Amino acid sequence: MNDLQAIVENAKAAFVQAVTPAELENAKALYLGKSGRITELMKGMSALTVEEKKSRGAAINLAKQAIEAALTQRREALAEGQLQAQLLAEALDVTLPGRQRGMGGLHPVSITLERIETIFGSMGFDVAQGPEIESDWFNFTALNTPEDHPARSMHDTFYVEGGVEGVPNLLRTHTSPMQIRHAVQHVKRYRAAAGADAKDLFSGDMPEIRVIAPGRTYRVDSDATHSPMFHQCEGLWIGENVSFKDLKFVFTDFCRKFFESDDLVLRFRPSYFPFTEPSAEIDIQFQTGPQAGRWLEVAGSGQVHPNVVRNMGLDPEKFIGFAFGMGPDRLTMLRYGVNDLRLFFDGDIRFLAQFQ
Ligand code: DAH
Repeated sequence: MNDLQAIVENAKAAFVQAVTPAELENAKALYLGKSGRITELMKGMSALTVEEKKSRGAAINLAKQAIEAALTQRREALAEGQLQAQLLAEALDVTLPGRQRGMGGLHPVSITLERIETIFGSMGFDVAQGPEIESDWFNFTALNTPEDHPARSMHDTFYVEGGVEGVPNLLRTHTSPMQIRHAVQHVKRYRAAAGADAKDLFSGDMPEIRVIAPGRTYRVDSDATHSPMFHQCEGLWIGENVSFKDLKFVFTDFCRKFFESDDLVLRFRPSYFPFTEPSAEIDIQFQTGPQAGRWLEVAGSGQVHPNVVRNMGLDPEKFIGFAFGMGPDRLTMLRYGVNDLRLFFDGDIRFLAQFQ
């Protein structure tokens, strides 16, 4: 191999080693640049004879052309490689699963509340909503639970600013205040409609009070079956001739529809609540399924106490009825077989998505 062939081979090797356009241009300078190998050889020819210049010049030119050709080839190869790399980088993998926006859904307790509203709605019950920050009067006193009443100790709650005469407002401990709030509104509306002097006109004029009041309630309580925030649903039916028999019928019908179980059995167990007399806890018993045979407490209930009827603005000699309060969280646990109440309020999508 003569010196020119060697230079051409070295140049080709250097070009192939260059993996970026910048490296390639550097390599080019070593051979074709101002002080590159080929340029040096050209300069070196001045000492030669005319004849020698002719043949040497032609040979150097051939070498130069070979190097230029190799350079062009390598430039194209690098450009092509760059294009391929770019295409690869920007490529879409159409086999990747798409990014989806998840479908939202109702919380299991909301599903329960909707079922409760639908079932009681079909029995002619209105649905009432009320404040979660409640006054001492509505939460306790109006419900026949005066300040020194021992039943208050089971309803420790969160007290908030506001309130009257130094008695703080509180986060309601049950939905029972809605009995008073709703009844007072109801009575007011029909008293106004009947005229100012129509104090005794209620018989026949006033539609019965038939309402449920679902919502959030609060107590200082937290374990597997108690959460400081929980749900209740109050029920109230007041008329001139509403009896415990009606309570039994309504609540039995509700439970059987709610649990889709026609042979479900109810038990009314004597109990005590300040705002009802007599009072009863309502237990249910499934005849089939994993809970079959067990008595499960689902609600408190009773005939509305005369003092409470009076606080509704009604004469307890004329008006009578029943109330109940149940726990939609517990109903949800029973319906779906969930054993820890806290799961409902952790906000874990993996748990909640199972109810969709
Ligand atoms: N408010 C009661 C509680 O939270 C539940 C209750 C019991 C509501 C009897 C009622 C009732 O309306 O009649 O413990």
